[in-house]
Amino acid sequence: MTTDAAVKSSVRIVDHPAIRTKVTQLRSHTTGAHAFRDLIEELGTLLIYEASRSLKLRDVTVETPLAPATGSAIAPRIGLVPILRAGTGLLQGALHVFPDAQVWHLGVYRDEHRLVPVEYYNRLPPHPTVDVCFILDPMLATGGSALSATDVLLRWGVEDIRFVGIIGAPEGITVFTARYPQIPVTLAAIDDCLNHRGFIVPGLGDAGDRQFGTGA
Ligand code: PRP
Repeated sequence: MTTDAAVKSSVRIVDHPAIRTKVTQLRSHTTGAHAFRDLIEELGTLLIYEASRSLKLRDVTVETPLAPATGSAIAPRIGLVPILRAGTGLLQGALHVFPDAQVWHLGVYRDEHRLVPVEYYNRLPPHPTVDVCFILDPMLATGGSALSATDVLLRWGVEDIRFVGIIGAPEGITVFTARYPQIPVTLAAIDDCLNHRGFIVPGLGDAGDRQFGTGA
């Protein structure tokens, strides 16, 4: 499952045995909602760990029981931006890495007929309260939802934006990186294509429905 999209410099596929194993379990139709949620959360931790590698540090000094020790702390204010609904699963995992991050939910669903994003929730304050935003959404299909969230955050005034997802389709990756080549995209896998309904193939089905038991 490789594509030209994968070689774009802004796209990073995190190739790790633990991630491959978890993604495979996630794909299986026999994986129930409870296990599915756990896997999404675990992948959220692993993927944001990689997506945040380049964050700037500032020096801090702490007192150990024996002496002062010079260390580091993450310098920018971190914002985690899950796209409702499916991004909330990744959020739980991302919070393990950044427990003090601000969380700003964005509601975007994809109109199933027109395959265009529809924004329905946004309570961002007038001015940015963070320096870096990690957009969290397991699926990058047509790319419409990711683009919509990015547009919102750029209008808000945050320039350092990073997308963290699990599976991307070549079509969506191409669209997203063409419009925002400067925004890093971290994924676990790139799949083959989209089907006529805009679902990623082979994918894992509907990430929201599978997490929340709302399919069928
Ligand atoms: C799914 C998925 C992404 C979006 C990806 O959400 O979680 O947000 O579609 O598709 P795109 O790249 O073509 O925009 P969905 O609209 O099913 O909403 P949900 O998370 O509430 O289930």
